[in-house]
Amino acid sequence: TNRTFTMIKPDAVAEGNSGAIIQMIEEAGFRIVAVKKALLTKERAGQFYAVHSERPFYNDLCAYMSSGAIIPMILEKDNAVADFRKLIGATNPAQAEEGTIRKRFAKSIEANAIHGSDSDDNAKIEGDFFFAGIEQF
Ligand code: GTP
Ligand code: MG
Repeated sequence: TNRTFTMIKPDAVAEGNSGAIIQMIEEAGFRIVAVKKALLTKERAGQFYAVHSERPFYNDLCAYMSSGAIIPMILEKDNAVADFRKLIGATNPAQAEEGTIRKRFAKSIEANAIHGSDSDDNAKIEGDFFFAGIEQF
């Protein structure tokens, strides 16, 4: 498909970087299909990241992702999933390329400013986790 899912993470929202991040996303050619501000409980963060439940950082990740407001969005563009992963850069900001969102805004491998879906199937699952069908247009 031509859609992906993203969340601006708590560190970036709290520091007032949402506007600059959305500007980078739009300037890269993505159209916002759906957007809102939300606060996850630790349980709900755990459901979202259930795929990582066996990883050593899972508990920290769920605590971090529920520590403040996030901004979930569905985005549209040709080749959306791969192009968006390129725009956000490597998970660890120390390895993120110049010009990427994580290079500019990520604080650490955990507080790394933004999420991007890793496949078309997960983009659909993750978008539907936050948005009803009538909110996606
Ligand atoms: P997402 O777009 O958020 O899914 O990031 P990613 O696909 O680049 O990384 P991955 O799915 O492997 O990990 C999900 C999230 O877990 C990362 O974005 C980080 O916030 C966090 N994370 C990943 N690796 C580590 C780690 O080694 N330590 C800690 N504390 N957090 C990690
Ligand atoms: Mg991932």
